Amino acid sequence: MNRWLTRLLVVVVGCCGLTPALAEEPILIKFSHVVAVDTPKGKAAEKFRDLAAAYTQNRVKVELYPNSQLYKDKEELEALQMGAVQMLAPSLAKFGPLGAKEFELFDLPFIFKDYAALHTVTQGPVGAGLLQRLANKGITGLAYWDNGFKQMSANTPLRNPEDFQGLKMRIQSSKVLDAQMRAMGAMPQTMAFSEVYQALQTGVVDGTENPPSNFYTQKMHEVQKYLTLSNHGYLGYAVIVNKPFWDGLPTDIRAQLEKAMAEATLFANQIAKQENEQALEAVKASGKTELITLTAEQQQAWQQKMQAVHGQMEARIGKELIAAVYQATGFNPRQP
Ligand code: LMR
Repeated sequence: MNRWLTRLLVVVVGCCGLTPALAEEPILIKFSHVVAVDTPKGKAAEKFRDLAAAYTQNRVKVELYPNSQLYKDKEELEALQMGAVQMLAPSLAKFGPLGAKEFELFDLPFIFKDYAALHTVTQGPVGAGLLQRLANKGITGLAYWDNGFKQMSANTPLRNPEDFQGLKMRIQSSKVLDAQMRAMGAMPQTMAFSEVYQALQTGVVDGTENPPSNFYTQKMHEVQKYLTLSNHGYLGYAVIVNKPFWDGLPTDIRAQLEKAMAEATLFANQIAKQENEQALEAVKASGKTELITLTAEQQQAWQQKMQAVHGQMEARIGKELIAAVYQATGFNPRQP
């Protein structure tokens, strides 16, 4: 190469910033979610971001958008399908609008006694089969991340099913949750997570349900006088990616991301219980919300009212699928 050409190249590369390191742009994964950073999902997403960078030697950059700052619940699902974001971890109660209504089985009241029972499903063949059903919707299901068991809140004490009569209760977009609130005599109102605090504050709704980690980090304790420790249902997540994006990744990169996801999943499921216990302590310490513990009779009355939902939702979720969950957990709440 003659000297003039070499000089020209130096000038062009210098002026346009095309150094070899910059020439190879990292693969960008935009990961949007609706909860606070300081929650099981928020922390697990950070863990995945860090591991993905480490295992791919920074060839992948995961950008996190927490707290609905990019998209709200419904919008983020549309954004994933359009490829505007690549990764999400919506709650299992939000897959209905995607046409994957079977995921609402996780919302069935009192279906899981504890995390161990839940894991027989999320870490077993039933859970894997559900994730596979997303493929024909242009989505790849990667993992289940735990959050926790839901508690019920309102500005009036909720002890007996009659206490729900006529209350407007915010729910996620799940027909099972709709049926659950109706079974208790309440009026369910579907609403995006980002709108709940204000709706509670202004009285648009009277109450809601969520695990303590969400209740506390969204400051719902500031606008709810009572929290009943009902553990009446579960809330957790499926981590999902845009399928064409995922399938189009170089094989070695995808393998490293799968490894990062497996470790982030272990982390999520290790911290979830403790995060919720700590959040509950923080609610208690705030002195703003009174915690209510149900008596055995009250607990039984809630279960009896809510268990009808299992039968009502058979047509929507699939009788066999519900039976497979009972089989996996060894517990049928309809024959306790
Ligand atoms: C809710 O909308 O209440 C939850 O799904 C939020 C979340 O992602 O945990």
